Amino acid sequence: MKYVLALDQGTTSSRAIVFDRSGRMVAVAQREFRQIFPQPGRVEHDPREIWASQHAVALEAIERAGGNAADFAAIGITNQRETTVLWDRASGQPVANAIVWQDRRTAPRCDQLRQQGHAARIQKKTGLVIDAYFSGTKLEWLLDHVPGARERAEAGELAFGTIDSWLVWNLTGGRVHVTDASNASRTMLFDLHKQDWDDELLKLLRIPRAVLPQVVASSGVMAESEPSLLGAALPIAGMAGDQQAATFGQACFAPGMAKNTYGTGCFMLMNTGAQPVASRNRLLTTVGWQGPPGAHRTSYCLEGSVFMAGATVQWLRDGLQIIQSAPEIESLAAQVDDTDDVYLVPAFTGLGTPDWDGYARGTLVGMTRGTGRACIARAALESIALQSADVFGAMTRDARIALTELRVDGGASRNNLLMQMQADFLGVPVVRPQVTETTALGAAYLAGLATGFWADGDEIAAQWQAERRFEPHLAEAQRVAKLARWREAVERAKGWARA
Ligand code: G3P
Repeated sequence: MKYVLALDQGTTSSRAIVFDRSGRMVAVAQREFRQIFPQPGRVEHDPREIWASQHAVALEAIERAGGNAADFAAIGITNQRETTVLWDRASGQPVANAIVWQDRRTAPRCDQLRQQGHAARIQKKTGLVIDAYFSGTKLEWLLDHVPGARERAEAGELAFGTIDSWLVWNLTGGRVHVTDASNASRTMLFDLHKQDWDDELLKLLRIPRAVLPQVVASSGVMAESEPSLLGAALPIAGMAGDQQAATFGQACFAPGMAKNTYGTGCFMLMNTGAQPVASRNRLLTTVGWQGPPGAHRTSYCLEGSVFMAGATVQWLRDGLQIIQSAPEIESLAAQVDDTDDVYLVPAFTGLGTPDWDGYARGTLVGMTRGTGRACIARAALESIALQSADVFGAMTRDARIALTELRVDGGASRNNLLMQMQADFLGVPVVRPQVTETTALGAAYLAGLATGFWADGDEIAAQWQAERRFEPHLAEAQRVAKLARWREAVERAKGWARA
């Protein structure tokens, strides 16, 4: 067998990538699908479109790699996390649109949970800050608002899952209802220490256990795909949330190693080893991955989550229409050397780490008559790097060790100007690997390790190679001043939608 197939179901597109034994990309297929914004602050996807696009790109990628499903040793799945799907077990049809991780409709419920004094207990159990980002309150909302859903859920007729569960359910023709520990750890219902759903939290959010998937390891054969779907029954052997998969794909296997992925949002994860480490700086503690077989069971990470990164560029393209394609932002931003004290705070869907403000909204401050498209484009790029710098600061304080470099990946990591800004604002080098599709690669590795396609972590770590290193050039005093001014701008964005 020559290949592993990685299915990467992201926030804005479904992708399928074929990898060979050397970790090289052999074929890629990608399809965008609809983003549904029914009201301000709400973001939905149609789960049927997610599955249809994912199935189509899987077939396309297999075709481009020679068209023989028997060449594939395994499938690895990775996915946008937290996005919540509720479906009918009998018909396999969703009972409502999926509520996407960026959706802020449950912010008032999260306020209530905080006011009732649950924050410390929830953080201790789940590693999470109470926020509308996570699946728990989204699922509660669906059970409360879809007519008949609660009764049907209690009767065992409905199934809940994040996108990983939804894909496995569909890939197996409705036979298997599972999630992996990394995805489970994003629900606010999962106890990190017991590695199981938590009855107290289920009671608090009024979620019947009967809707929940079984939690399985991230690396291990968990099911076989329905033969008619891809041309053969393939073992589904790897599954992890996209950010955890990217950390694995970047071979961040040793405690202290960190990566930042520039996708729809930006997510920085640092491996903390076999124990969950509680954050003192509003980072999240999360399962990195469970397995592979033979390795120690669970690796944990600290995570900082930035909600708008590539999505900010998408807004410049589709909303503001000041660029025609996303890569154009680099040349436009490079037309000016400076933003002249203009800051874009892209809090379009609230703010994640470290502010955790579901009511913050997008803000553009400091404009003058001289402010033009190039300046706004540059401010948009800077906002991605500045938000990541805030997260990096929190991570350094939590880790109590100086992080000496940062591995980067994801679509926007190919933007050299952005990567230089990132190194400047962090004050440490930024290192880009040869394969920037590390999310899909991580899922492939998890699946390939479980099926013997790759021998062990050492073989994988040896495949990682740097493509370019960006050294910081900004003087320390300027760097500190820039971050401080940015924080002033962030303060202006906070709380806006609460009124
Ligand atoms: O937590 C949300 C994250 O998993 C989304 O990832 O790649 O779609 O930005 P992405």
